[in-house]
Amino acid sequence: MLKISDLHVAYGNVRALRGIDLEVNAGEIVAILGPNGAGKSTLIKTIIGVLSSQRGAIEFEGRAIDALPTAQRIRLGIGTIPEGRQLFPDMSVRENLILGAYAQLGLLVPASLDESLDRVFSVFPRLRERARQLAGSLSGGEAQMVAVGRALMSRPKLLLGDEPSLGLAPILVRELLVTISRLRDAGITVLLADQNALSALRMADRAYVMNTGRIVASGPGAVLAGDQRLLQAYLGSGVDKA
Ligand SMILES: Nc1ncnc2c1ncn2[C@@H]1O[C@H](COP(=O)(O)OP(=O)(O)OP(=O)(O)O)[C@@H](O)[C@H]1O
Ligand SMILES: [Mg+2]
Repeated sequence: MLKISDLHVAYGNVRALRGIDLEVNAGEIVAILGPNGAGKSTLIKTIIGVLSSQRGAIEFEGRAIDALPTAQRIRLGIGTIPEGRQLFPDMSVRENLILGAYAQLGLLVPASLDESLDRVFSVFPRLRERARQLAGSLSGGEAQMVAVGRALMSRPKLLLGDEPSLGLAPILVRELLVTISRLRDAGITVLLADQNALSALRMADRAYVMNTGRIVASGPGAVLAGDQRLLQAYLGSGVDKA
């Protein structure tokens, strides 16, 4: 579904990605792990088109998307939960969700919009109760639901998540992982950058470990989760006991 080849991205003379090869197949949950500064966020931002690459190729469903603007990538079916949630605190939950549908212009037809909102509310019933509440007054866990729900409003086939569990209490992290597994069961493919290495590895079908802009290991989540040497070398501080 997603195929990345020899991807290079630099910020001025800081080379953040130095030749990334990565594939995500339809129906998989794939995790990207790695220490601070490894390049996880840079990779996610380049896939959605917020950053552009200097070299390499990104294909989505067999089509080169490198030259497409972000809105068009979203329209093709790539959704994103950005780093740090990025909700609009002075807008309601409903309004924040609706913003997620903007890229899919067709979905601004009221009937279709209500249908998308209903789908999100069926995943997160609590958001239906809070639809008129300002996003800025939500608890951390609720705000995270809005961030995931907003990504779902564009009806993605592939959902990208940049550390969606950051700052959540352990019980909410587990809830989020359960939600992500449910989304996969509903047919959404997931590519997730995560610091909670062990819980992400256990949930993921496959994982890639990044360090200083390169992939240093990859394989089935369960195999990497059992590789003590790898966990200690690259994920030392990120390894949780969940
Ligand atoms: N806007 C920027 N300008 C210059 N350098 C940047 C910029 N954003 C990121 N970098 C650098 O690119 C490298 C990769 O950063 P990136 O944010 O992709 O890492 P990360 O794996 O997401 O880290 P974290 O786990 O801390 O979120 C780092 O060395 C970082 O300092
Ligand atoms: Mg990051």
